[in-house]
Amino acid sequence: MHHVRPVIATGLAVALTFAPLAGAHAASPAPVEAEHGMVVTTQRLATQAGVDVLKKGGNAIDAAVAVGYTLAVVWPEAGNIGGGGFMTIRTKDGKSTFIDFRERAPLASTKNMYLDAKGNPVKGASTDGYLAVGVPGSVAGFEYAREKYGSLPRKDLMEAAIRYAKDGYVLGQGDVASVKENADWLKRDPSTAKIFLQADGKPHAVGDTFKQPDLAASLAAISEKGPDAFYKGAIADAIVKASAAKGGILKKEDFEQYKVRELEPVKCNYRGYEIISSPPPSSGGVIICEILNVLEGYPLSYLGADSANTVHLMVEAMRYAYVDRNSSLGDPDFVKNPVPHLLDKNYAAEIRAKINPYKAGVSKELMPKGMGESKETTHYSIIDNDGNAVAVTYTLNGSYGAGVVAEGTGILLNNEMDDFTAKPGVPNLYGLVQGEANAIEPKKTPLSSMSPTVVTKDGKPFMVIGSPGGSRIITITLQAILNVIDHGLDIQEAVDAPRIHHQWLPDQIYTEPQALSPDTVKLLVEMGYKVDEGDPAWPVWGKAAGILVGGKDLATIKKGDGARYNGAMDSRVESGLAAGY
Ligand code: GLY
Repeated sequence: MHHVRPVIATGLAVALTFAPLAGAHAASPAPVEAEHGMVVTTQRLATQAGVDVLKKGGNAIDAAVAVGYTLAVVWPEAGNIGGGGFMTIRTKDGKSTFIDFRERAPLASTKNMYLDAKGNPVKGASTDGYLAVGVPGSVAGFEYAREKYGSLPRKDLMEAAIRYAKDGYVLGQGDVASVKENADWLKRDPSTAKIFLQADGKPHAVGDTFKQPDLAASLAAISEKGPDAFYKGAIADAIVKASAAKGGILKKEDFEQYKVRELEPVKCNYRGYEIISSPPPSSGGVIICEILNVLEGYPLSYLGADSANTVHLMVEAMRYAYVDRNSSLGDPDFVKNPVPHLLDKNYAAEIRAKINPYKAGVSKELMPKGMGESKETTHYSIIDNDGNAVAVTYTLNGSYGAGVVAEGTGILLNNEMDDFTAKPGVPNLYGLVQGEANAIEPKKTPLSSMSPTVVTKDGKPFMVIGSPGGSRIITITLQAILNVIDHGLDIQEAVDAPRIHHQWLPDQIYTEPQALSPDTVKLLVEMGYKVDEGDPAWPVWGKAAGILVGGKDLATIKKGDGARYNGAMDSRVESGLAAGY
């Protein structure tokens, strides 16, 4: 199935046009079609809540807020009000913006707070319990988005979330699987365990009705009084109290001082498509663009999806881009990010010139000076009848975050502090080896990989895409884009296709099972690569959520007879749903 053709010298590459070669991917079901609006999320009830808001006349931003609150109830693994995230908006008039509601470091945080007396990271300190918690931003972010870009009252957008928390919802297979996989994590805090597990410590069963009365009360207070109920009232008090009692450093002022930032998205052009994505404090948009700029000089479509040549070029582009990610990016209020340089097409050409067409690069040769040697998040994509497109990725960082709930709030808290550099050169939860630009400082935001992305073509929305997956979010989102634009896959195939990943360190290609044939792996090994699946107990391959506009794939769009909106939820998630009207 795999077609291996020689790598073509860069200059010649762009002049060649060949029909895309299909990879060895399994067939996917057809994407979901709709004419007026589309919502794609990791949980069916959250998708339905978004569609209901669109049908009621709300716009895509309203729907995004409703989905955000609903996922906090029905997808507690990553949906949240105790974490933070990013929203990329492209409005019907062609304007785009980015709302940063990610967590900020507590005022009492310090650069070495996760190191012992000898200067070594204390195991679990940045991931487990209250010391790992960043100041949450989701409630402030949803309200900011609703007030500035939405059109419906807050209570309309929170109604579904409150209903599912108060009256409960019937657990499906995917909902139960998520709790089952994380039961040991959820057991450690009694306030958390009693919400998510039965009295005997076992997860609830498929078909059970799952209620969260404390969370319902917290949401009802926010619905009635707005974000002050979270940041200035009883909810913040309860979290601060629990934090103080259990080794955390959160203070009331942390909550009172939390501010949303509205930022210019990162933009770049890839083969005539405009990519609109996340700027710092996310590395996502910058690094996707850097990789795309490098790959634009190669005929990927001719070389074929999953061929050794294509994987080689993708991996080398990833290697260079992740060095830049891990060494030079951080919160823009604290460090000067070299974004124009990283997005420069000349810089991409310099990287291409260093890539040996026949041989693997060596990561340690790219080690910047001073560095020494989630797994879960959730993404959703929405588009409305007017063409407003919204991509949201938000998170508690690890699955179920720090695994702690302040008694009486029902709110799971994040462990986002682990996204900072605890110590330069020492890997974090995602194996990322990072530098000083991402060091901990009070009120600073940890560097993210979240990449909520809107792609346009000829001034019109073309694709809405993103995924969870920790450090792999970038390469997952990238591969969905390449699969559509270079390899001609339809949007469902594009998000389902098995993936590969490289993040500079560790110096190896991670492959999802079935991503590469043994022949392809052999060719890559001969080029000098280490290729394997990584830790099988930690299969982080994301859950992409995509929408394609005008047809299910490029060929259909060209013919002009496709559906207006084509939604695809990654088949990796049992509980997810793409739905429209
Ligand atoms: N916590 C995952 C990320 O923000 O990249």
